[in-house]
Amino acid sequence: MAPSISISITNSNSINIRDFVVNKGHGVKGLAELGLKTLPCQYIHPPQERFDTGTPEAHHNSIPLIDMSRCNDPEVAEAICKAAQKWGFFQIVNHGVPMHVLEDVKDATHRFFGLSADEKKKYSKEQSVTNNVRYGTSFTPACEKALEWKDYLSLLFVSDDEAASQWPPICRNQVMEYMKGSEIIVKKLLEMLMNGLNVKEIDETKESNLMGSKRINLNYYPICPNPDLTVGVGRHSDVSTLTILLQDDIGGLYVRNTETMKWIHVPPVSGSLVVNVGDALQIMSNGKYKSVEHRVSANGIRNRISVPIFVNPKASDIIGPLPEMLQSGEKPLYKHVLYSDYVKHFFRKAHDGKATIEFARA
Ligand code: OGA
Ligand code: NI
Repeated sequence: MAPSISISITNSNSINIRDFVVNKGHGVKGLAELGLKTLPCQYIHPPQERFDTGTPEAHHNSIPLIDMSRCNDPEVAEAICKAAQKWGFFQIVNHGVPMHVLEDVKDATHRFFGLSADEKKKYSKEQSVTNNVRYGTSFTPACEKALEWKDYLSLLFVSDDEAASQWPPICRNQVMEYMKGSEIIVKKLLEMLMNGLNVKEIDETKESNLMGSKRINLNYYPICPNPDLTVGVGRHSDVSTLTILLQDDIGGLYVRNTETMKWIHVPPVSGSLVVNVGDALQIMSNGKYKSVEHRVSANGIRNRISVPIFVNPKASDIIGPLPEMLQSGEKPLYKHVLYSDYVKHFFRKAHDGKATIEFARA
């Protein structure tokens, strides 16, 4: 049934659109389902931020695809460290997370967004009983000149008990399985990356800085009437240590090639996970590993989902270049910052490419 609100589709009134999508909890999914023929002006991004998907770089020039089945082979570790330096992004296959776990969390994502607006709104900023569970739309609607064509559910993992009692029942078990199922590979990747920096032992402090907390987002990018005028997610880098992203078979994630500055498509590979370096690891590695700009296009034909796990420092951790990085007299590029301050800074503004990390510049 169509939502019973007075919304002028051809001549979209700015207050009504925002109210419908953001405040009433319909999200862009609800907007898309009204059958809009044209994109509301609130979603139109400036030309320089739009996608020119007509001229992608040649297929061979994409992020590395790394087979983790021989994960004790030094060549695999080298490929990972190299990819983290050059691209900040790579994909992994044979990573040990069972296929059914990946399929189940994708299904669970579709189920959550298939709930009514009223059901989803129970997890909105206004109604959620905990700050650790948040349903929303766009990135920071209050600060954005143009909204992003995306809805999300964001889950900060605090404990098994809290997840069991607070996460939406319609998806919580599948999200937990995915989170637990990826723990081994996350640890392995961080060990390899630390080894590549000559950090041989991950003590308690380092372990907390590298993976002291976890956030999982379920992202929903509904079909968009004018995908060429808007974005699914604007240019940004993640504030994580590492992000592990599951995407479906639709595509739309683009990564900046830091040498040519061109945008490279991350092709969906069945059963793979996309891994990227976040700002926290760029800071800790004193710039050796790159947290690279990326963005997501909107799609005119299919509804897309993705499920990133953000592996983060603990909020109360102070992060900065690791002592091992400075032993041979290298100058620190970043100062020490309280991680929660860094994250607050990220969420105080609209997406703005690589600008966030300047907050930690030495
Ligand atoms: C993100 C992100 C990419 C995607 O959530 O930070 O970059 O493909 N998502 O959804
Ligand atoms: Ni991202």
